Amino acid sequence: MTDQVVRLVLLPVSARRLHYREGQYISIELANGELRSYSPATAMAADGAIELHVRLHPQGKFSTLLRERSSVLSSLKVYGPYGDCVWQTPTSPDAPILFLATGTGIAPIKALVQAALSSGCTNPVWLYWGARHVEELYESAAFEALESRHPNFHFRMSASASDRDHGEPRYVQDWAARQHPDLADALVYACGLPAMVDAAQALLTQNNGLRAERFFADAFVSATAPAATPRPPADTLSVNATFDTQQPQQVTRNRLQLEPGTSLLHGLRAAGVLKGVCGGRQSCGTCRVSLTPHWFNQIPPPARSEQRLLQALPEAGQLDRLACQIIIEPALDGLHFSIPALAV
Ligand code: FES
Repeated sequence: MTDQVVRLVLLPVSARRLHYREGQYISIELANGELRSYSPATAMAADGAIELHVRLHPQGKFSTLLRERSSVLSSLKVYGPYGDCVWQTPTSPDAPILFLATGTGIAPIKALVQAALSSGCTNPVWLYWGARHVEELYESAAFEALESRHPNFHFRMSASASDRDHGEPRYVQDWAARQHPDLADALVYACGLPAMVDAAQALLTQNNGLRAERFFADAFVSATAPAATPRPPADTLSVNATFDTQQPQQVTRNRLQLEPGTSLLHGLRAAGVLKGVCGGRQSCGTCRVSLTPHWFNQIPPPARSEQRLLQALPEAGQLDRLACQIIIEPALDGLHFSIPALAV
């Protein structure tokens, strides 16, 4: 698609289909057990094919496999779908629907735009797509064609490193905010760089009247810089932890050594205990652990995004947390928790 973005199409090897909704994402397992998450760029296809837009990173393992067209790619394990950045019914026929994307964040947004327009939605639909250079806006011709067929669809693109011709804002969230001062009834979807997603949420809810529950987002976290797993200083002592795994009629006590500065999920993954299939994006819930009251109170409280996911998990209890969001500190030496049977 560009020098740095390739289209990858996954085909099912059996009659089983992975059913997803536009805007959700899936995780692909590499041969070494690492996971990469991508959002399909189209609605579910009848033949089960899944189209992904993959950005190639110079050091990325998956990128290297793609560049070399490795035979490892001939059969991949796929998990999912995950995420709640999915199509919602507008609150009124006039309510604007805004889609914001940067880079390959356009993949789930493209699927969502198609879902909106093919559902017969007559609301005004605006798409703002940004990248550093205009060559990176690889689907712009398709969106311009869509714009000519649907009078209620409006497409704007912005290359932030290019000169401004008409004084348009450099960033998609600023452009959307300027063109839509009143977003009280709007639905907004944002996919792409975390900086854009965070800025859009703050700007549009604080200045443009957007209601927080009508902002749907999927922030892409680079596989080469996973969130919540910073590397520890080399001379840091490890932290000891114990955890119980619950199988039917049997509880097993296990020991674990954790590196300060990394996430609890990092340690559990390294020990082969949990996968955490969304890679710490707080949308799969497969890294849920149950803490004792003492240890629950030793850990900083969950952010709103973590609370939201835990509340959406019907089996989650009051002392549950996401292991991907717990950062190990020396003060957590002796940490004890249990892993629910469903998560193991
Ligand atoms: S790894 Fe998915 S929510 Fe923690």
